[in-house]
Amino acid sequence: MYEKIIEMAKRRGFFWPSFSIYGGFSGFYDYGPLGVLLKDNIIRQWKESYLRDNAIFIDTPNITPEPVFKASGHIARFSDIASECKNCHAKFKFESVLSYNKIKEIPKNIEEANALINEYELKCPECGKRIDNAYDFNLMFKLNDMYLRPETAQGIFVNFRLLYNYNRNKLPMIVGQQGKGFRNEISPRQSLIRLKEFNQCEIEAFFDPSELNFGELFNYNKIMIVPNNSDPVEITVKDAYESKIVSSQAFAYFILKTQVLLERIGIENTKLRFRQHMPDERAHYAADSWDAEALIDDEWFEIVGIANRTDFDLTNHDLSSGESMKVSDSEKQFIPYVIEPSYGIDRILLSLMSQSYYSRDEKMVLKLNYDIAPYHVAVFPLMKKEELRNTAYDLSRKMKNIDPYIVYDETGTIGKRYARQDEIGTPFCITVDYQTLEDGTVTVRDRDSTEQKRIKIDDILSMNNFSSLM
Ligand code: GAP
Repeated sequence: MYEKIIEMAKRRGFFWPSFSIYGGFSGFYDYGPLGVLLKDNIIRQWKESYLRDNAIFIDTPNITPEPVFKASGHIARFSDIASECKNCHAKFKFESVLSYNKIKEIPKNIEEANALINEYELKCPECGKRIDNAYDFNLMFKLNDMYLRPETAQGIFVNFRLLYNYNRNKLPMIVGQQGKGFRNEISPRQSLIRLKEFNQCEIEAFFDPSELNFGELFNYNKIMIVPNNSDPVEITVKDAYESKIVSSQAFAYFILKTQVLLERIGIENTKLRFRQHMPDERAHYAADSWDAEALIDDEWFEIVGIANRTDFDLTNHDLSSGESMKVSDSEKQFIPYVIEPSYGIDRILLSLMSQSYYSRDEKMVLKLNYDIAPYHVAVFPLMKKEELRNTAYDLSRKMKNIDPYIVYDETGTIGKRYARQDEIGTPFCITVDYQTLEDGTVTVRDRDSTEQKRIKIDDILSMNNFSSLM
């Protein structure tokens, strides 16, 4: 399915490799006209979902001065173990070399990685010759004395004081930032999965560490949970918290929130799981981490990382910047704790597309939810006859005044036009035919059932939105 999605994404205008006229550069992808709309719809769902929790939002620069990343630990510790082939000079993340050589051991540092290279005489995944020494590879792009940010989060932490004042000095405080992240990935791969420039929607939730409670852990669908070192269990998030699989109520809340949001976007519950990181897998700032993972074909991919960052970042900025990050209530002074659900929009979009595709009568259908689909309705004249074209075009124009996500199409046979809209996920098609000219009705077709019914144009134009056209 993955290969089909990549081919369709380029042909239909969702996404494609960047700079292809110059041969392409791995790790960079462009969003085309439909991809831009789909991406924006996913981001809007994220934003609206957190607005319901009274989140506030911020927008800070991509380029960040060195002292920020010195304090945050990224300069010293935001790195991968890498290695290079002695023969073909291909560079790899060390974990790819281990997986190619079928080695299960995970080195904790460069010394252990080099010991594995020597012990197993590890071979290059490209040319099969010997791999050279392992080395530490910092993932940040450096620009003189500045860096491109590898996460949007630091822009929130360095503004904590201003945001806290804005929030009337109240905790919990939920802050979101949507924007680009940049990582000099050693081996970018699988189109949108590992990019050098990618889209994140991050939430930093600030708490009094003695009150890690937020929202309601309502009963919702069971999910698959893979706790640290254990077998997968199917359980509700509420039960996972009550049976102490998840450490705090607030952390459980953000897992539940993420599950609801991803399902609302269209990720299938049966192809979603939450996996806890082993201690040696966690980022340098995290005391606990769970990844939301989505199934694409037969492989699980991390799409959201949820971390307990404790007071790690604020304490380090407090010590390095001279700006106090302490807050106080009537009894105590403390530096807030942070729980961070960080959403990778590119991976969510790719998972959504690959999970939503199915084949019907040898034609592909993209079963996107109404709110997520790039276009809500396509309007066609049955044939390119002037009176039909004028009526259809006029209808599409009037519908756009109610909802701009309407597309007009008159190219090709009606069957081809239905197939084109099915393939890009448009929930409804409207066809203007000769009967329209007589009685003012049009045919509305549902993408999923392919059922058709006639509706009066006047009724369509009196709707506030077109989500229940059929
Ligand atoms: N601030 C925390 C943070 O950045 P992360 O787990 O490294 O956490 C969060 O990243 C999400 O961002 C991931 O779950 C993934 O979806 C996305 N992401 C990270 N690196 C990426 C890359 N190189 N290409 C595409 N998406 C990436």
